[in-house]
Amino acid sequence: MNRRELDFVRDMFDRIAPHYDFLNRLLSLRQDVYWRRTLVAELDLAPGSRVLDAACGTADVGIEIHRQYDLGVDVVGIDFAAEMLRLAKPKVGRRVPGRSILLAAADAFDLPFRPAGFDAVTMAFGIRNIQDKVTVLRCFWEQLKPGGRLAILELGTPSRGLPRCAYLFYFNRLLPSIGRIFSRHQFAYSYLPDSVARFPAPPAFAAMMRAAGFRRVRYLPMTKGITVLFVGEKA
Ligand SMILES: C[S@@+](CC[C@H](N)C(=O)[O-])C[C@H]1O[C@@H](n2cnc3c(N)ncnc32)[C@H](O)[C@@H]1O
Repeated sequence: MNRRELDFVRDMFDRIAPHYDFLNRLLSLRQDVYWRRTLVAELDLAPGSRVLDAACGTADVGIEIHRQYDLGVDVVGIDFAAEMLRLAKPKVGRRVPGRSILLAAADAFDLPFRPAGFDAVTMAFGIRNIQDKVTVLRCFWEQLKPGGRLAILELGTPSRGLPRCAYLFYFNRLLPSIGRIFSRHQFAYSYLPDSVARFPAPPAFAAMMRAAGFRRVRYLPMTKGITVLFVGEKA
């Protein structure tokens, strides 16, 4: 694991935290709401389920879980950026009154829970920031009960034609400038397209999930492949 890379990522998210939600909605034209909704629907949770949302940020996935599943689902969110968690706490109270999410500062590589305690693990837009993907996927596998499901959302790139050209122009040229203006962070929104460009193509990432022990691995490109939902199960 590359500790310097992780420290850089944590510091970056701490600094952009106050503008993070606003920029997500703006830069994705609110598609991020639909992407998380699709991820959460894919979990197919039974009442009483326990879900771990790794790299929870400002808790959008956990909030969506409470919206979709009325009854008795416990959500635990972990993130290593303290500022993201600080903003998540009051937001959960505002957005899903009467429901709670246990939020904890933790590194996805070093989870403070007993093994096999969760029915589902989710990670939305966190995996591309992690270099040693198979190791962290193995950590998630260990957290799941047999039959449990892992669902991961990550940004991708449309594979061909006009959508690809238009998207690459927007993502590589316009988005970094808009992000810099609103976040006042010099490089966070230039790092974003770089990190997406380095992320493996969907078949290669699905192979990493299999290498980490997951079965029935599948992926669903959304919005012309701008985002991909990966799902796998622990046998
Ligand atoms: C792009 S944000 C995604 C936040 C949230 N999941 C969402 O859907 O908006 C990525 C988050 O991953 C967190 N993160 C990245 N690597 C991590 C690690 N190794 N352990 C814990 N959190 C991590 C960052 O702090 C950041 O909050």
